[in-house]
Amino acid sequence: MKLFGLFHKKEKTTLILPQHIGIIMDGNGRWAKKRGMPRSAGHSAGARTFRAITRYCNRIGIRYLTVYAFSTENWSRPKEEVDAIMKLFHDYLVEALEKFRSENIRTRFIGDLSVLSPELLSLIAEAEETSLHATGMTLNIAINYGGRQEIARAAKMIAQDVREGKLLVNNINEKELSKRIYTAEQPDPDLIIRPSGEQRLSNFLLWQAAYAEFWYSDILWPDFTTGDLDRALEDYSKRNRRFGGV
Ligand code: IPE
Ligand code: IPE
Ligand code: MG
Repeated sequence: MKLFGLFHKKEKTTLILPQHIGIIMDGNGRWAKKRGMPRSAGHSAGARTFRAITRYCNRIGIRYLTVYAFSTENWSRPKEEVDAIMKLFHDYLVEALEKFRSENIRTRFIGDLSVLSPELLSLIAEAEETSLHATGMTLNIAINYGGRQEIARAAKMIAQDVREGKLLVNNINEKELSKRIYTAEQPDPDLIIRPSGEQRLSNFLLWQAAYAEFWYSDILWPDFTTGDLDRALEDYSKRNRRFGGV
């Protein structure tokens, strides 16, 4: 809770918080392997970290947090592992539904959700509806999410609008595409965090990350603490973002 203290004690310091943070929650499998445990145990531990980091972000005033929980490519993992991850989504949703009112976090799900089980889909719908009017942070949970899938979907929506005469080909531009991505109406991520040592986006927020600052660390996601997040935020605060200017 260092930053929280820091932030409130020195309210007039120049610490600039990102409005929107993206986190690629990676390293669960290696964390479990190091302990001789099954990969699913790593995912359970990662889910605990997710809860703690989400609460912390909301508390220190982050407006938007997008977490990468399951990619369009993660289906290629063993069925046993995929099933364990789906069970964790289920358990999280059941628990979150009880806590939503006190946590004041607006929760949304992004990705191609159509392939999820009917049970998960109804919990997701309930979670989105219950937290719709929360005034705190907006949390986007990316499940069966892929940046390429998201852009292809937006292109398809544009094609349909053109066919129906709602949009002129000449008016297709970045703004029109941005209106059709999952995070439309939200600011682009300012900071993307990837633990576990990998230095790649792995299909996360490809469109939105155009000018995001990237922060990575060797810490495996289940070991990631609020202190690590503070370090990322302090580093971010010192970055010079030029957006192509001088
Ligand atoms: C991230 O951890 C969680 C998901 C991709 C669902 P990993 O399972 O990728 O962990 P490592 O990268 O194998 O350690
Ligand atoms: C990215 O991690 C996806 C999530 C964290 C949900 P991966 O472990 O799937 O990515 P790669 O395979 O290392 O690129
Ligand atoms: Mg991984």
